[in-house]
Amino acid sequence: MRFSQMPANKRIVVSYALCPDMLGSGFGTAHHDAFLHLKDAVNDAIAHAENVHVTCPRGTDYTGQPQLKLTPGSDTSIRRFPMSVPTPIPAHSFSGRVAMPGFLTGTGSQYYTPYSVEFQGEVYALFEHGRLTGFEGDPESVAVANRHYDHVATSLGIDRDFVHSWHAGIHPGCGFPGTARDSYERWGGSGFGNPRVLHFHTCGSYAPGEISWNVIDPTVTVDGVKLWDNGRLRIDNLKESNALMDMFPCAAQVFANPDDRIGL
Ligand SMILES: [Fe+2]
Repeated sequence: MRFSQMPANKRIVVSYALCPDMLGSGFGTAHHDAFLHLKDAVNDAIAHAENVHVTCPRGTDYTGQPQLKLTPGSDTSIRRFPMSVPTPIPAHSFSGRVAMPGFLTGTGSQYYTPYSVEFQGEVYALFEHGRLTGFEGDPESVAVANRHYDHVATSLGIDRDFVHSWHAGIHPGCGFPGTARDSYERWGGSGFGNPRVLHFHTCGSYAPGEISWNVIDPTVTVDGVKLWDNGRLRIDNLKESNALMDMFPCAAQVFANPDDRIGL
């Protein structure tokens, strides 16, 4: 219901802690303010960067100059708990390729059938300045990807090749119990908060789009400094981190003991 119409003048809070175990873990118990501050610090680092380069072990490789305008309207007005992602970075100033982790799935915006497709072989999405230019890799899997985009775009009447924006998880306590394959709908509603996952909003000229690309264990290099390194958020590379971790030992604990379960 995160993207549903909500009544005005109500305080809406969306919980990404999907079960009592997640609520009771470091994900639900580290101080919320720590991750609000952390989100601002990450946003700030990216907004001021000249160059961001993203890679992953599977072969993701894209780059660009972020055009992140941090205005109050640039993010969702609904309050989120826990805060697990920074503001999406517009994709129109980025180009390159993204390695799929063996599937495509939805974004939680609308629920269509099939909600996900799986690949037998490697698939890379190629994009230029925020437009999908094609898929590359195992021919059968590439055909599956193309058919899925055709189907979702046609049935919803949306811009098929629009690549809207991307962001990566900032909450190392965000461990996903179970496997993504058991329910991609459930996985896509929470798993993205782990720093081991970076996702794109694609298909449709709006956030969050209707199809997500998920990059596993991303390395995000911001002006030559690794802000995520192989799926770890390097808070030591943020100038605010010492003060933040001193103020919130509960958050420091979560960073010292990251939960690596991402359901894959
Ligand atoms: Fe997102």
